[in-house]
Amino acid sequence: RTVYVNGDYVAERDATVSIFDRGFLLADGVYEVSSVLGGKLVDFPGHMGRLKRSAAALEIALPWDEETLLAIHRELIRRNALDEGMVYLQLTRGSAGDRDFHYPDADTQPTLVLFTQAKSLVDARSGREGIRVATQPDWRWARRDIKTVQLLYPAMAKMAAKAAGADDAWLVEDGMVTEGASNNVWMLTHDATLVTRELSSAILPGITRAAVMTLAETLALQLEERAFSVEEAQQARECFVTSASSFVTPVIAIDGVPVGDGRPGEVARRLRAAYIEESR
Ligand code: PDD
Repeated sequence: RTVYVNGDYVAERDATVSIFDRGFLLADGVYEVSSVLGGKLVDFPGHMGRLKRSAAALEIALPWDEETLLAIHRELIRRNALDEGMVYLQLTRGSAGDRDFHYPDADTQPTLVLFTQAKSLVDARSGREGIRVATQPDWRWARRDIKTVQLLYPAMAKMAAKAAGADDAWLVEDGMVTEGASNNVWMLTHDATLVTRELSSAILPGITRAAVMTLAETLALQLEERAFSVEEAQQARECFVTSASSFVTPVIAIDGVPVGDGRPGEVARRLRAAYIEESR
């Protein structure tokens, strides 16, 4: 695989980053995952807009404009002949050559790393058959609207969900679902209203979430942005999650309680198909 590190396209075994990089020592960095379908980037401007907001919130320099970032993404897709999968981008504050909690001087060069990951997205089994989720307490920090590389707790929550026999974790705070460990959560009520949690610092503003909200309007579905409890989701007609790598993926059980008839819902299936169709 060819990867990108600070201006260079190199073989992955030749790619290096300093051990003093603040991304490595302090998780002082942000990231984006953009999916690729038929060699084409999906929702790219949305992902780069959020990257800009994440970097600005942490005062990390981003000395590349969207056009340059697009050219790097496209070059990596070309060099790796990527047809379907993801491009991962990570931007860290870089290194001042020592360990220090304080941010280094403003002239420190940030570190920019990108790599591709081939993966079957459209024909993923989870998309066809749905996933089972297990709830976990949301023990992440309070600025979840910033897409930082601090992913230890989401990793722990996914491992706990797996140990409980589920495919993924839903995170819960004060009895209400915040989001999935790496996706946004949705339910369809029995009066056919689509519900997803409103944006705040409690959740990541998903790019796929925004695209699916627009799709839902096109399909004349009722939409409501509000928090919902685990019990309400378990009793809903349908549940699903959205993210760049999973598009729209049905949720068929929550903590062992089947959602609806325990099979992927009709609205989730329609939204998934429409999103894939629009992204091709
Ligand atoms: N995860 N919420 C969290 C906590 C996430 O990590 C993600 C994305 C989302 C969905 O955002 P988007 O629709 O922009 O992908 C919501 C990525 C895919 C990941 O970490 O792999």
